[in-house]
Amino acid sequence: MSLGKWLFAAWYDLLNAGVEGRVAPYRTETAGRTWGDVLEIGGGTGANLAYYPAHARLTFIEPDPHMARKLKRNISRHRRDAEIVLQPAEDLPFPDESFDCVVTTLVLCMVDDHDRVVGEARRVLRPGGAFYFYEHVVSPRRRGHWWQNKLNPLWKFATTGCNLNRDLTASIRNAGFDSVEIRSFDLSVGLPVTIPNIVGVARVSNFLAAR
Ligand SMILES: C[S@@+](CC[C@H](N)C(=O)[O-])C[C@H]1O[C@@H](n2cnc3c(N)ncnc32)[C@H](O)[C@@H]1O
Repeated sequence: MSLGKWLFAAWYDLLNAGVEGRVAPYRTETAGRTWGDVLEIGGGTGANLAYYPAHARLTFIEPDPHMARKLKRNISRHRRDAEIVLQPAEDLPFPDESFDCVVTTLVLCMVDDHDRVVGEARRVLRPGGAFYFYEHVVSPRRRGHWWQNKLNPLWKFATTGCNLNRDLTASIRNAGFDSVEIRSFDLSVGLPVTIPNIVGVARVSNFLAAR
């Protein structure tokens, strides 16, 4: 594991502190709405822990051991009982229909194959289940998109793998969910630039209950 990854994990909470207040409503809108057996993909240091309902049974997928160490500490701090699985989410080690909810917040920008990870989220959801996501995405504006493409190599290097310019809306819409609700908006980060974001839920129908 590289020094860059260690530094990213060590500084992640501090780097995020400046925007965390602006992101909080979207953690409430995703993690805060979960129930039952919940899988969070790319749990990081556990920024969503404060938002999960007390009755949610939590499992985290986190491939970075430095992040996972901080996540483990934060799970104890929040007095939660949660499993951490140390591996990437492109091949989830769970049978089909294992979870009621899957959550990603600021993760699909960073995984190797976002289409595959969204497909895995769909696969492990039970009928009636929900995939809650909050992500930053490709700009819908030509100029914004141009800047994202220019800045991406440097940004990706500095953040050990985050991409500014992914079309995650298409990825989620094409993953075979029965319904998808997505709200797009620009997140102000207190600078002269805003960041295109999406928040929403993709659901699997509960055909058995409907019969
Ligand atoms: C920007 S952090 C977001 C952490 C947290 N979800 C949050 O909202 O603050 C992205 C996380 O995704 C993890 N990650 C990167 N590649 C991944 C993959 N292939 N599968 C699952 N998680 C991955 C990283 O290790 C990191 O912890």
